[in-house]
Amino acid sequence: MSSSDSSQRVVSGMRPTGRLHLGHYHGVLKNWVQLQHEYECYFFVADWHALTTNYENTEQIEQHVFDTAVDWLASGVNPGAATLFVQSKVPEHAELHLLLSMITPVSWLERVPSYKDQQARLNDKDLATYGFLGYPLLQSADILIYRAGNVPVGADQVAHVELTREVARRFNYIYGREPGFEQHAEAAVKKMGKKAARLYRELRTRYLERGDTEALERARALLAEQQNLSIGDAERLFGYLEGGGRIILPEPQPLLTKQPKVPGLDGEKMSKSYNNTIELREAPESTAEKIRTMQTDPARVRLKDPGNPENCPVFALHQIYSSDEVRRWAAEGCKSAGIGCIDCKKPLIDSITEEQHQRRERAQQFEEDPGLVHSILLEGSEIARDMARETIEDVRAAIGLGP
Ligand code: TRP
Ligand code: SF4
Repeated sequence: MSSSDSSQRVVSGMRPTGRLHLGHYHGVLKNWVQLQHEYECYFFVADWHALTTNYENTEQIEQHVFDTAVDWLASGVNPGAATLFVQSKVPEHAELHLLLSMITPVSWLERVPSYKDQQARLNDKDLATYGFLGYPLLQSADILIYRAGNVPVGADQVAHVELTREVARRFNYIYGREPGFEQHAEAAVKKMGKKAARLYRELRTRYLERGDTEALERARALLAEQQNLSIGDAERLFGYLEGGGRIILPEPQPLLTKQPKVPGLDGEKMSKSYNNTIELREAPESTAEKIRTMQTDPARVRLKDPGNPENCPVFALHQIYSSDEVRRWAAEGCKSAGIGCIDCKKPLIDSITEEQHQRRERAQQFEEDPGLVHSILLEGSEIARDMARETIEDVRAAIGLGP
């Protein structure tokens, strides 16, 4: 497989922070479950990324990796459809990170917004480390090592994908300009056969002379269809199309999906660091208790006081979990003070605990047989490594590090 299929490939990672919560499901996992049927997907537990901020507390990391994987599996991420693995089991990510670090200006990393933000937010930790500065570049390596065209991420990660694009462009610019590039590219065009070669030339001219981006898209599609081009030739022709050198590392796009805001128990965004979460596999009693004491519209002090669902995080959960009918009942009962908050929360407790129940059932086989989870991750890591090795060999050769 070559960079020509990169538009079909998706990669995403998640740091192991322990048991996942409803925010992870609605913000990320639901989307992964969908994507795994539409793309060739690589999903990994980013255990090295966890070290960048948590290098002092590593005794739980293994358990967290396990719990994360079980939560994925219990949420419908399917190892038959997507490749699931652990970052540190594919050391090629680290080699690419190192090689990219050679060409990445420090200023590019210092200006990534999360760098200063996180340093300020986590001010109890010393994050003036080399590894923390390199966090987004490691992420770039995670993406580029699979030559993935698409990265499903939340808005907070878009800057990291943008950095990845800049680093890829710089890499291709520096190392894609082999001597005799034009002649190699022309020779590759001929290998496509007369008809396809003529179309390729025509589309290339239209793009280069008139900036016709539709022609660029069509030419890319044409290249992706070619069966008898080597990986090297395909890369050359992708690069030649845009006038530059060989595209060794294609630039990825962020795949932004509409993410429903999942409110935490206090009305802030649900997040482990705010201690306001409901876990994906939390027990019914504790879930019910959390929802019963969850923040509501502060205007509803007494039962007689009407409320406004817009100001209520419980209602935001109704938006995700309830039928139109229940949602209407809640909104009207709230505004007219016809129902109390405890009534309003009941159907929510039912649907959330029902969902958790199904997830716990699906998780059971994995909890009982941890070896099963380890073998899924090990097998995934092997598949990922095969792909990663192909890229790293190309990268070494392009830089001039001999075999
Ligand atoms: N930085 C991401 C986060 O905190 C996790 C991550 C690591 C990632 N490597 C990645 C996401 C590669 C997408 C692609 O959520
Ligand atoms: Fe929120 Fe429902 Fe209470 Fe209204 S009735 S404040 S929507 S919990």
